[in-house]
Amino acid sequence: MTLSLNLGANSYDIIIEHGSLAKAGKYLNLNRKILIVTDDGVPAVYADIVAKQCKTPIKITVAQGEDSKSFSTLELLCKTMLENGFTRTDAVVAVGGGVVGDLSGFAAAVFMRGIDFYNIPTTLLSEVDSSIGGKTAINLGGFKNTIGAFHQHKRVLIDPDVLKTLPKRQIANGLAEAIKMAATFDQELFQKIEREEIDANLDYIIERSLMIKKAVVECDEKEAGLRRVLNFGHTIGHGIESYENLHGLYHGECVALGMIPMCAENVRKRIISVLEKAGLPTSLSFDPERIYEAVTHDKKADGDKIHFIYVPEIGTYEMKTTALTDFYQTIKEAFPQ
Ligand SMILES: NC(=O)c1ccc[n+]([C@@H]2O[C@H](COP(=O)([O-])OP(=O)(O)OC[C@H]3O[C@@H](n4cnc5c(N)ncnc54)[C@H](O)[C@@H]3O)[C@@H](O)[C@H]2O)c1
Repeated sequence: MTLSLNLGANSYDIIIEHGSLAKAGKYLNLNRKILIVTDDGVPAVYADIVAKQCKTPIKITVAQGEDSKSFSTLELLCKTMLENGFTRTDAVVAVGGGVVGDLSGFAAAVFMRGIDFYNIPTTLLSEVDSSIGGKTAINLGGFKNTIGAFHQHKRVLIDPDVLKTLPKRQIANGLAEAIKMAATFDQELFQKIEREEIDANLDYIIERSLMIKKAVVECDEKEAGLRRVLNFGHTIGHGIESYENLHGLYHGECVALGMIPMCAENVRKRIISVLEKAGLPTSLSFDPERIYEAVTHDKKADGDKIHFIYVPEIGTYEMKTTALTDFYQTIKEAFPQ
């Protein structure tokens, strides 16, 4: 299946095909210098399969985990390209999850003011969400995605077979973003996850999630309006993530927790039960004040007000703004100590 993301001059295709990793050379222009970026948690064979199809591959394996979304790793990627004589006509290929995608996409965005970027996402989270839409970033001072750029891909290649090696908890992590999209836009997808066996429907979940993200990004490439809906669960989720970094919760797990306070009572029950079915956390055991502090550092806070997405009914959303003091109360009530 091919989805075309229509963004004028920045348009690109997303190819979803079992076994497509071995055909990367057919779908991507690898007949030039290619910086392949992966991490040491991604089975090395995936990047090697891609490297074999490149004319001049240079492979970098960064350390797995959020800490690689840093200035020092960015410098390593850019220096490697410089030392290997990369020019503006060469390209970067990410073979990994959202960390590798965000980091290497940002390197592609800033190296020589922007070179081609291909993404081959290998986690469910990156296949349903982070591999499309052009958001690239690194973290700074413990805060997520503070330094970044919009840099659309040249093409995205999704081979669902790579998920066979992904641990169960990482599958659940990706399901959180799919549940987020279903809750705000797609009642049918939500019901499918709610009523049917999740593993048997992974291809369907990937395709439907991508269709939702595609439609949203096409309306609002640079997050001036509609795209903020994709932040459902992220206002509190990013706060938890900044604070919880030390405690080891994954991005999708933080988003899962972040969705719980931001919906109507009857919706909350359904979301909690779907999150539990997917193997995601639904309660917190730490100080809500710390999360509030982290949330107010986040980019969604605006003076003494905060913007967030609220789900009144499954498949719909409202964009809301509230005073920070009320927001603190909401966090406290949703996660009683
Ligand atoms: N750009 C965007 O629009 C966007 C959207 C959502 C999230 N994100 C970012 O994505 C990041 C999270 O991405 P993630 O959840 O993919 O985490 P990740 O990239 O850290 O990958 C999770 C783990 O799985 C391992 N792994 C990857 N593929 C594997 C495979 N096929 N088999 C076995 N192990 C594998 C990795 O080594 C890593 O240890 C966060 O930094 C978040 O901010 C970006």
